[in-house]
Amino acid sequence: MRLKDQRVVILGGTSGMGFALAELALEEGASVVVAGSSPDSAAKAGERLGGRVEAIHLDIGKEAEVVAAFERIGSLDHLVTTAAKLTYAPVGELSVEAVEAMLGSKFWGPFFASRTAAPRIRQGGSITFFTGLASDRPGPGTSVVSAVNAGLEGFARALAVELAPLRVNCVNPGVVRTEGWGFMPEADREKFFDGLTKSLPARRVGEPRDLAEAALAVMTNRYVTGTVLHANGGGHLA
Ligand SMILES: NC(=O)c1ccc[n+]([C@@H]2O[C@H](COP(=O)([O-])OP(=O)(O)OC[C@H]3O[C@@H](n4cnc5c(N)ncnc54)[C@H](OP(=O)(O)O)[C@@H]3O)[C@@H](O)[C@H]2O)c1
Repeated sequence: MRLKDQRVVILGGTSGMGFALAELALEEGASVVVAGSSPDSAAKAGERLGGRVEAIHLDIGKEAEVVAAFERIGSLDHLVTTAAKLTYAPVGELSVEAVEAMLGSKFWGPFFASRTAAPRIRQGGSITFFTGLASDRPGPGTSVVSAVNAGLEGFARALAVELAPLRVNCVNPGVVRTEGWGFMPEADREKFFDGLTKSLPARRVGEPRDLAEAALAVMTNRYVTGTVLHANGGGHLA
């Protein structure tokens, strides 16, 4: 078991890849805390995981909520952030509220969480941020998504130096079949996934478990820090 007796905190772990990582971490012997922004999603995730995790709710973009959560959590071994509230739209059409939600979930959140958690992370532990393919392969409508992901990768590299020997890494997913695509009508989504299945070098769209395995790899490999693991089916080449 690769996480036996270790404590893993996944902010964003009530859905998608974070949820898949919670399942994998449990299989690997960890005790797990998952957090989402809504009490409902936290309660449902707790039930889906058979009551084997501590499921909490907080807004990762609000420092006081993050600090209060880590005061309750105490010591841990691995912090992972997957939280995201993103809006895909042309730059001229993005509302300030939408941009604030993106910054809150994918920049301020990792900033608050990492600086609060770092002193509580035991020796040999790690911090892992989830970024995304748009950081280096942006498309129309992804300007701020690209900015927050690229910014987070720079932040992680700097933290890996500043917080050493605590290891800090990013996992950069390509398109993965998660609840995060729920904003798209089902028919459009399936057409999009079908197109990618034909064009991606891996000839498949990612599943949450693929990314959970990628995160576990950087969390547990004691020689990996300051790096970005791209798990995207070859999306950076297609
Ligand atoms: N899916 C993809 O194809 C894809 C591609 C590239 C990158 N990524 C990145 O990979 C990560 C995981 O994506 P996913 O698709 O697995 O996500 P997801 O299924 O949409 O889940 C997002 C999680 O974040 C939580 N969350 C959102 N805003 C939050 C906030 N302010 N405070 C606390 N929790 C918050 C959600 O909880 P609530 O539901 O309660 O809000 C949920 O647990 C994200 O960072 C995403 O940007 C995803």
